[in-house]
Amino acid sequence: MKARWSGLATRIVVTTGIVIFVEALVAAATALLIGPSLFQQHMIAAGLEDDPAALSHAEEAFRSTNTVAVAVAVACSMVIAVIVSILLARRMSGSLRDLFTAASRTSRGVFDTRVEIPNLGSEFDQVAEAFNELSDALQASRTMRKRLLADVAHELRTPIATIRAILESVEDGIKDLNADTLATLNLHLDRITRLSEDISAVSRAEDPNLELDTCVTSVDLLIEDAVRAAADKYASAQVTLISSIPDVVPRVVADRQRIGQVLGNLLDNALRHTTPGDTVKIAAHDDRAAGQVSVTVADNGDGIAAEHLPNIFDRFYRVDNARDRDHGGSGIGLSIVKALTQAHQGTVEAHSDGLGHGATITIRLPAAPAASGTDKPDPRD
Ligand SMILES: Nc1ncnc2c1ncn2[C@@H]1O[C@H](COP(=O)(O)OP(=O)(O)OP(=O)(O)O)[C@@H](O)[C@H]1O
Ligand SMILES: [Mg+2]
Repeated sequence: MKARWSGLATRIVVTTGIVIFVEALVAAATALLIGPSLFQQHMIAAGLEDDPAALSHAEEAFRSTNTVAVAVAVACSMVIAVIVSILLARRMSGSLRDLFTAASRTSRGVFDTRVEIPNLGSEFDQVAEAFNELSDALQASRTMRKRLLADVAHELRTPIATIRAILESVEDGIKDLNADTLATLNLHLDRITRLSEDISAVSRAEDPNLELDTCVTSVDLLIEDAVRAAADKYASAQVTLISSIPDVVPRVVADRQRIGQVLGNLLDNALRHTTPGDTVKIAAHDDRAAGQVSVTVADNGDGIAAEHLPNIFDRFYRVDNARDRDHGGSGIGLSIVKALTQAHQGTVEAHSDGLGHGATITIRLPAAPAASGTDKPDPRD
């Protein structure tokens, strides 16, 4: 009951009532104190001072008209103000009540609650919009968490089931615990270990609070580092790795280690999908008009079928071909690429003319502003 009387509607009605009451007092005081003398002056100016009876009648008429006018005006404005404030207060408190109910549901974990935009002015509308955006974000993050857990469970199931089957066979005497069996067990244990490392890598990369240690650097230095890191693997796989950089490349603001991870993942994928004699090209392109620098990693290997292209940046997504099954990757490399590129305000996209026609992955990073005084320069420059 107390809450009802201290509610928004009551407060608006009481406040409006007080304003109208004060207004009425002022109007009445003005009419009584200033009105008669003004009226008298006008009567005298009109030459009625010699006729006291007419003057007193006119004064009486003025007073009663004034009183009736003020009384009717106050009564009407009181009624209208009360009606308008009740209607307004109802709409306002209705909208706040909806918001309160929705917030309570959300705090209990029901994230599909949305409120209607009340059209009660920008402040109310903005609060409702902000609440809906918050609910969208919470729902998306819950869906992502659920999917991540389902993906992890799914990825763990296969190696664990295999290890269990092998151990049961050993227990039942069907298999010997020889070097071969131990090697298979180790292979699956490695898979679990790699998976746990990948999961922590992807959750670090996707953390919205990921801290970047940025510096202003030339893209050619980033490419040089990545090529140096991959050189041995490429040499032993007999795949040629070439880099191409235009004469003048704009600089980027980048965390060298993270971009190194991005390019390393792309070069790993390219190597995995090529065979001896193939070529992988890593190149920088100056797209000054768009304020961007792009880096492409292009191979002439397996290629990617069009139906898989939209999904390859999803966590744990692997194209299920023989090579992907054999190498035992987690399908996480490209989701890390995407998360780290986006953390640099960049974008990533994949292109392939289809199976057997190679693949090109392009990352685009914003070019550093001409004078990036706030960012430290690359110490190697
Ligand atoms: N250069 C490429 N050529 C052909 N297919 C590719 C290429 N790069 C990625 N893919 C496809 O995209 C899928 C996803 O790649 P991603 O790097 O995310 O996972 P992965 O390489 O399978 O495993 P991980 O990187 O976790 O070891 C791969 O399984 C592969 O099928
Ligand atoms: Mg990969």
